[in-house]
Amino acid sequence: MRTPIIAGNWKMHKTLAESVDFVRELAPRLEPFAGVERIVCPTFIALAATADALRGTPVKVGAQTVSHEEKGAFTSQIAPGMLVGLVEYVIVGHSECRQYLGDSDELVNKKALAALNAGLKPIIAVGESLEKRQAGAALPFVEGQVRAALANISAEQMAQVVVAYEPIWAIGTGLNASVDDAVEVIAHIRATVRELYGEAVADGLRIQYGGSVKPDNMVAYMSAPDIDGALVGGASLKVDDFTKLVELAAQAKGV
Ligand code: PGA
Repeated sequence: MRTPIIAGNWKMHKTLAESVDFVRELAPRLEPFAGVERIVCPTFIALAATADALRGTPVKVGAQTVSHEEKGAFTSQIAPGMLVGLVEYVIVGHSECRQYLGDSDELVNKKALAALNAGLKPIIAVGESLEKRQAGAALPFVEGQVRAALANISAEQMAQVVVAYEPIWAIGTGLNASVDDAVEVIAHIRATVRELYGEAVADGLRIQYGGSVKPDNMVAYMSAPDIDGALVGGASLKVDDFTKLVELAAQAKGV
């Protein structure tokens, strides 16, 4: 069985002190749900202190992006090697990075490969715009993103990869995708991975849904066998909500 995975993407929220206070409160609350992989993704400036505060707890840390370069004259960027020892996961290809920071499909692929080569686990985010969905092009568009993001990633490396399906129109808008729509795209992502890597890799790949996930819609998503967890923005910023999401995931998946 695939281990359910819930990651909180804090985006540009919480100062260093707020991040540390938050996880000190969160970690004991999440302790009972050992069957769910639990991750927080703070801002870069809070990563080290948050990772310190979480050492010895079951809550893991992820970064929100990473450079594909190892080092050099890349002002403002953070190399994969700099994250080693601090984080286990790194989100790549979040739609906000694609939209505001120029993360193209090719760059997302380079970042995923760079993360894997450094021993980090990429959470590769994909998802269509409202325009694409309304044009009936969601499935081929997301398939294209998946194929591009996975170029040159080996079948062995795929064991370290997580994919997050996040329709752009559902992020931070309160307009969550229907479970049927999410399941349709996620099944298509898995079918694409099956075609690329075969049955075993496709069956083992964890695919999250993301986009306005909240305690009151969590059970519906997690009850779908093909949805293995959630990438959560807004609702991950409150200890009660995040705890509830993890609790509901554990219940729905029976872990
Ligand atoms: P949201 O964000 O839960 O606030 O919609 C999800 C994300 O961007 O990962």
